[in-house]
Amino acid sequence: MSQVTDARLTVDGSASELEIERATIGNDGLSVANLLSTTGLVTVDPGFMNTASCESSITYIDGDQGILRYRGYPIEQLAKSSTFLEVAYLLIHGDLPTQDQLTAFNNRVARHMHVHEGIKTFLEAFPRSAHPMAVLSGAVSALSTFYPESVGRGEYEIELATVQLLAKTAVVIAYLQRRVTGGELIEPRPGGHYVDEFMRIAFSGPDGNLDIDPTVRRALDLLLILHADHEQNCSTSTVRIVGSSQANIYASVSAGIGALSGPLHGGANEAALRMFDQIKEQGDTIEQFVAKVKDKAEGARLMGFGHRVYKSYDPRGAVVKSVADKVLEQLGGNNETFDMAKRLEEIALSDDYFVERKLYPNVDFYTGLLYSAMKFPVPMFTPLFALGRMPGWIAHYREMMNDPRTKIGRPRQIYTGEVERTYVPMEQR
Ligand code: CMC
Repeated sequence: MSQVTDARLTVDGSASELEIERATIGNDGLSVANLLSTTGLVTVDPGFMNTASCESSITYIDGDQGILRYRGYPIEQLAKSSTFLEVAYLLIHGDLPTQDQLTAFNNRVARHMHVHEGIKTFLEAFPRSAHPMAVLSGAVSALSTFYPESVGRGEYEIELATVQLLAKTAVVIAYLQRRVTGGELIEPRPGGHYVDEFMRIAFSGPDGNLDIDPTVRRALDLLLILHADHEQNCSTSTVRIVGSSQANIYASVSAGIGALSGPLHGGANEAALRMFDQIKEQGDTIEQFVAKVKDKAEGARLMGFGHRVYKSYDPRGAVVKSVADKVLEQLGGNNETFDMAKRLEEIALSDDYFVERKLYPNVDFYTGLLYSAMKFPVPMFTPLFALGRMPGWIAHYREMMNDPRTKIGRPRQIYTGEVERTYVPMEQR
């Protein structure tokens, strides 16, 4: 598409120029910042299908070509060669770290893994059957009360909160896993590798030791990298809008966790695995299930399929699928379900319903199979997504805070209610 050079809006015969904001790559933006004051009109864009809420230099997606880059680096290269904390550093600070910078960052995160006793008491107060996303959201918000020295918008506070969030949410999520099996909440060990320490706290026996399978370590590191950022998705936009009120980073990330829990967003990894189980339980053939999905009256969706931005394939899903065979074979995962998922994908991708709507498997279609093979129960899948997305939420909060153009997020509406009524006393109604 050639570059638009001039844009004009005519309202009731009166024309005004609209400013074009240039992207380095991808869609340029048409600024409507002065629309209300010059025309009395507001824009209408349900679901923000066409609305850029900010400028950002963190992550680039080309949904037609299946491209995802963090700070310019293709996801495939990072997935192959990087580690989660290195990617976290990249997203948050803008460039790949030197060895010294990475060592210092890893050490600093490791040093902050210890959590206050009060956080443990807080976690233990929830029923063991509580969904871990609800507990996680509460726990992240509560961190601000236990670590007030990291609450604030100054450089010192934000650097500290960045490390606290990366370190302590890993431990909180590992504790949530530990609670599933009724285990005591054990202490982090200083200086451990991030993923190893997470797995050890989550899965070790009473002696606190765990032999980490290198396949599990690599697969989990990879999954965290793939989830680390995805530009202005629902949860990240939530973090930004909450943060735009100058709420602290813990409150903002906690709200983002709430947004992530929904089945159309991060909750889709849990929903996809439950869908595979349901197909098996109900004894449907794949064809029968696909027919149900296509019948809108059934209200069923193919979970783990479709994406607002990706219209050819989701590069994260492609990486997951490419490693799933090997990982499931080595870990003894559920190959029967994997075969079913592959068959479901194959049938859907050759069906006009999905082809016409450009619906492809997204990252959540296959991840649950890997998490299951690592012995995580289904409700833990979305907290693992949250652990991966933490660097993205932090990076966006920081970017928003440092952008002088940031204003409090406050959309308009088209009011369609009663114009004006007079209060009717109770006895006259
Ligand atoms: N199964 C069946 N039909 C679908 C699906 C699906 N998974 N996704 C979209 N459609 C249909 C939808 O019914 C609509 O059809 P029609 O035009 O006839 O009304 C059309 O495709 C467009 O759908 P939409 O809901 O308007 O698209 P959207 O961009 O608003 O929604 C989505 C994107 C991801 C919410 C949606 O595709 C979906 O619900 N997928 C299933 C949930 C899922 O896997 N979510 C994870 C997203 S990726 C991980 C993340 O970043 O969170």
